[in-house]
Amino acid sequence: MLGIVKYSVSEIAAEVIRSTSREKPADAALREVLKPLRELPPFDAAEVSRAVFMYYRWHAWLLDERGVDARMRLARRLAERFQANPTTIPLAELRAKAVPAWTTEQMEVSDDWLRSLQREPKLWLRAKRGRGAALLDNLPGTHVSPTFPEALVYAGETDLFKTPEFHAGEFEIQDLSSQAVGLLCDPKPGETWWDACAGEGGKLLHLSNLMQNKGLIWASDRAAWRLQKLKRRTARAQAFNYRAALWDGGAKLPTKTKFDGVLVDAPCSGVGTWQRNPQARWTTTLLDVQELGEIQRRLLTHVAPSVKPGGKLVYSVCTLTRTETSEVAEAFRVAHEDFEPLVFSEGGGVKECQSLMTSAATITIWPHDSGGNGMFVAAWRRKR
Ligand SMILES: C[S@@+](CC[C@H](N)C(=O)[O-])C[C@H]1O[C@@H](n2cnc3c(N)ncnc32)[C@H](O)[C@@H]1O
Repeated sequence: MLGIVKYSVSEIAAEVIRSTSREKPADAALREVLKPLRELPPFDAAEVSRAVFMYYRWHAWLLDERGVDARMRLARRLAERFQANPTTIPLAELRAKAVPAWTTEQMEVSDDWLRSLQREPKLWLRAKRGRGAALLDNLPGTHVSPTFPEALVYAGETDLFKTPEFHAGEFEIQDLSSQAVGLLCDPKPGETWWDACAGEGGKLLHLSNLMQNKGLIWASDRAAWRLQKLKRRTARAQAFNYRAALWDGGAKLPTKTKFDGVLVDAPCSGVGTWQRNPQARWTTTLLDVQELGEIQRRLLTHVAPSVKPGGKLVYSVCTLTRTETSEVAEAFRVAHEDFEPLVFSEGGGVKECQSLMTSAATITIWPHDSGGNGMFVAAWRRKR
């Protein structure tokens, strides 16, 4: 175990990289190494994370260097060169090294997407409704975003988890594209919703806030530990209009309730998060994508009967592969004649989402357009 008196930021980052594996991804290794280093100043802890993710962002360029330290130095040089002038890294090189070869079978690998993957991601906050202006005043380093009024970019150096505003539930750390999902659901106060893959509650908190804490949201997940975290987060955010239930994604549903809206924020390959989580580029396989596509289809099929006539079904994934996006949506359309595509510009999504809306019933949010994660959203309305 490292002690902070003796070790520098780069030595701690090297320790994280050495303890990372397929079973222990970089973010888990980071938490493990940083946990005993409680006295490490927040700025230094953030620098450790930056160095680790920089390493994995440039991973395929580093293979000829011997040792983690030399590789980290090369990653930093490449990142600085790219930041100063992206054209110094030829596009052909990015195409060959920034993403695994299987991506070309699954999605459009555009130059803009490739370049976005090599930049450092922004840190997004979602302010509670009506609290954005106060946060801008009170949290130095916070900036407004032109996209949604409650979305803020944070570029400060304070440990956000230690701020009084965080403990008062005034904001959540939530990617911009995840915020788009809540806005596209557009739940109304007093409605009944089911967040079927609620996980640790990122989208649930947003739905609850949009519903002004009125009505009811069923929050299910198959991981009990995730629902425990969700409960802690809802307590802090003072979101009370929900009920948590375990659900393994199978045909036996947690409730017989018919819902005004069901959100399936499904498990996915996470290709849309590859800027933030670059190590996943080298641990995710085409087989994972195919297996996840099957799970996603099953989840939608199982929840569909729980949507009321006239109610909405929203499917979201933070990935961009065809198998998990358009092909899942198309399979659902073909198998469910009792649902019609919900065109977002005609009744799905609150007005803040105008910038995203198209005349289609599916939306693909690309990282290079949004500045957030990549995300795919499809929605249907159950026929009356
Ligand atoms: C994308 S995450 C959800 C994130 C969450 N909605 C949020 O906004 O914070 C997908 C969730 O699906 C859950 N999950 C995975 N496989 C599942 C299955 N077969 N049935 C139900 N939930 C599943 C995972 O435990 C995970 O929490």
